[in-house]
Order: sequence, then C-alpha cells, then structure tokens
Amino acid sequence: MLALIGGSGFTNDDVIENRREIVMETPWGQPSAPLIEGTLKGTPILFLRRHGVKHEFAPHCVPSRANLWALKERGVSGVIAVGTVGGIASDMGPGRIAMPDQLIDYTWGREVSYYEDFGKFGMKHVDMTWPFDRALSRALLDAADRLNKDVRREGVYACTQGPRLETAAEVRRMQRDGADMIGMTLYPECALAREIDLPYAGICVSVNHAAGMGECADEIDFASLESSLQKAVSGVVDIVAEAIKELK
Ligand code: HPA
Repeated sequence: MLALIGGSGFTNDDVIENRREIVMETPWGQPSAPLIEGTLKGTPILFLRRHGVKHEFAPHCVPSRANLWALKERGVSGVIAVGTVGGIASDMGPGRIAMPDQLIDYTWGREVSYYEDFGKFGMKHVDMTWPFDRALSRALLDAADRLNKDVRREGVYACTQGPRLETAAEVRRMQRDGADMIGMTLYPECALAREIDLPYAGICVSVNHAAGMGECADEIDFASLESSLQKAVSGVVDIVAEAIKELK
C-alpha cells in the first residue's frame, strides 16, 4: 500500500473513502494528524494531512520526522507527497502540475535527520543526487500519460522556510540558481524518507506565479491562489489514484 501526504489543497480530504483513523505515537512524537487508512477511487491508501486536521502546522513546524516514521511503521511501500508551489519557470503558471526531479533547500532550523541520538539510531550519510524516488516518479508520470494529463516531467523545486512568501529579489535569486518552482514542504520530508529507505516522490501543483513574476509582478492575490488550488487539486487526485492502481 502507498501513502499519500496531502498538503494545503487537501483541507477537504473526503476523497478518501472507507476511512479508519489510526492514532500513532513515534519516537519523534505524534504525526501531524491521525493516519487515515481508506481507499482512493477504490484502491487502498494511507493518507496523512501534513498540516494537521485544522491546518495548525505551518510549513516550518510540520513534524516531518514523526510523519515519515509513522508511515514507515505502517509498512507502506512508498510515499506520494503533494505540494503546492509558486511557479518560477514561465510554463509553471497557476494550475500546472509538475513532477519535480531536483530540489534546492533554502530552509533553516528544521529537524532534518533521524541521526541525532547516535547511540540509538546509528549514523549514515544518504545519497541525495536524486532527491525523489525515480521509479515512483516515473509511475506517476506514466499514470498521467494514461490519463492524457499534461504534466511537467521534471523541475527543480526550491524549498523555502515560510510561512511568509518570498521577496521578488529572493525569487530572482532562486531563478538564477536554476529553480523552476517554489514550495515550503517537500524538504526535509524527502531526506527523512531516504534515511529510512522509504521511496518518496513529490507531485506539485502551481497555484500562483512566484513573487515578482507574471501575474504576481506587483503582489500576490491570495483569493486567486485559493481558487487555483481548488481547481487543480482534482487533477492531482486523478493521477495519484491512477498510479496507485498499478503500485502495491
Ligand atoms: N512560494 C512558496 N510556497 C508556495 C508558493 C510560493 O509562491 N505558492 C504556493 N506555495
């Protein structure tokens, strides 16, 4: 069974049917919400709301260590993580779905590793050349192809600290660094998943042009951000549902 971590677009997570809530405790505390075991369009799935039941965890406060640990403990074979993004690349306007294949970390002060308590968990350096699991990302792209959905097939995800959005100059710097989209959540999730050998892929949905770009050249309009999100999330759900039909 696969796990799905839902971000801001999943405030209404009743796309998951036949639900059973599982309250978990981990060495890193409780996950951001009870896990929901259920089905997505008929296929079993384990769902976790990243920001909590009442959206109480801002991006820099999400208990990612507990979240990934809890999913691993339930024995999932991989994690699909949905993240909303602001688009930097010109083809990353609102509504665009993208599968990032690279990531740059601009966060600070987050709990990014399980290797803190040496005696307890040992220590290893993980390879992050490809931060997202390539087989799982491929399976999501194949699913999108089967559904004839237009998905950007790769991209560099810049992870910022949040919860504030970026300044225009910060976005220009990230553009010079090679970033295509900006979000606040896929890091440290992807690194923690790697540390515990859990295949992890991100699927991103653009809800705005990043600050200073395109329609957001002068300011970010939060009302249109919300409506783009609601429109785009159903496309992501369709792709995930199609992908998990084939994955075990
Ligand atoms: N920046 C960072 N994270 C985001 C954005 C953004 O513009 N839009 C949605 N998540």
